[in-house]
Amino acid sequence: MTDEGIFLRNSWYVAAWNHELIDGKKLARTILERPVVVYRGGSGKVVALDDRCCHRAAPLSMGRIEGDDIRCMYHGMKFDPGGKCIQIPGQEKIPPKLGVRSYPCVERYNLIWIWMGDAEKADPNLIVDYPPLADSKWRGLPGYMHYRANWLLIVDNLSDFAHLAFVHTHTLGGSEEYAYKTKPVAIEKLDDGFRVERWHMNADPPPYHCKVIPNRTDKIDRRNIGRMLIPGIFLLDTMFAPAGQGAERGVQVPGTRQYRNAQFMTPETRSSTHFFWNYLHDFDLENPNISLSLRHSLEEAFMEDKAIIEAQQKVFDADPNYQLLAIGADAALTYFRWALARRIEAERNAARAA
Ligand code: FES
Ligand SMILES: [Fe+2]
Repeated sequence: MTDEGIFLRNSWYVAAWNHELIDGKKLARTILERPVVVYRGGSGKVVALDDRCCHRAAPLSMGRIEGDDIRCMYHGMKFDPGGKCIQIPGQEKIPPKLGVRSYPCVERYNLIWIWMGDAEKADPNLIVDYPPLADSKWRGLPGYMHYRANWLLIVDNLSDFAHLAFVHTHTLGGSEEYAYKTKPVAIEKLDDGFRVERWHMNADPPPYHCKVIPNRTDKIDRRNIGRMLIPGIFLLDTMFAPAGQGAERGVQVPGTRQYRNAQFMTPETRSSTHFFWNYLHDFDLENPNISLSLRHSLEEAFMEDKAIIEAQQKVFDADPNYQLLAIGADAALTYFRWALARRIEAERNAARAA
């Protein structure tokens, strides 16, 4: 089955958290329907190659790391970080083109970023800027979940506030009542996604926040700035300021607590997804139980999403041509899908022209 038109190839995707590569691990992971092996070489360099030896297709993830190179442990062919075969045991001459495909990789913000498209277009400056992920002013526990669903169903879910009251009634949502009172939010359209800013003044702190603070009954002014970016990156900056002290006018109110939430959806296949996330906080950094508590709260909510999203995927699988009908709350996800489809189309046209 061809994957043409399904994935945006010329884009940086998260392949792994860097902690997944410790102790010489050869990480076998399928990304955009290509099996790759990712490892850290002896020099510290991160390497990503097709996880298939060009000789007899043994997985290189079963191979042996030698310096920055990897040796296939079937007949011993050795490949450098560029994928070029540099040794064939028992054979003097190595055909110059012999090798496997290598993928540009960058380690940034504790993440391993991979470029599955044209290598010459892989500009590290295109990686999304999100310093809190690797800044000691922020704490969090990196998380990973595997979804049996297309990545855009997860993107849809995160773009849609209307599900909070029903899917997360007892975790994030509070009550079903909330769904009837809140209106769809206006989105700011960006070239590479959208941005939403919302304020809730004089609100009660949400349950996951209450679990990690002492002053649970104090009202807060709550600000969320969310961004959803191509190819599937969700960034949410949350501020909880003591209520009524001018946070909305930019006053730095003492006692303000902040969160930074980053989620990266990387297609494994067209119907499964690698989901990387971290929920960082900027207060009481010496207390590790805060990260742990937030991790549990968020995971609880993600499991609620996962149940409904994976069920949705099964319904799509049974009838892929089913036409969906939109409601007002779908503006953000509709725009995102349109913007991504436009980029994929442009990539296809450029490839055809070449
Ligand atoms: S399959 Fe890798 S060396 Fe033969
Ligand atoms: Fe959700």
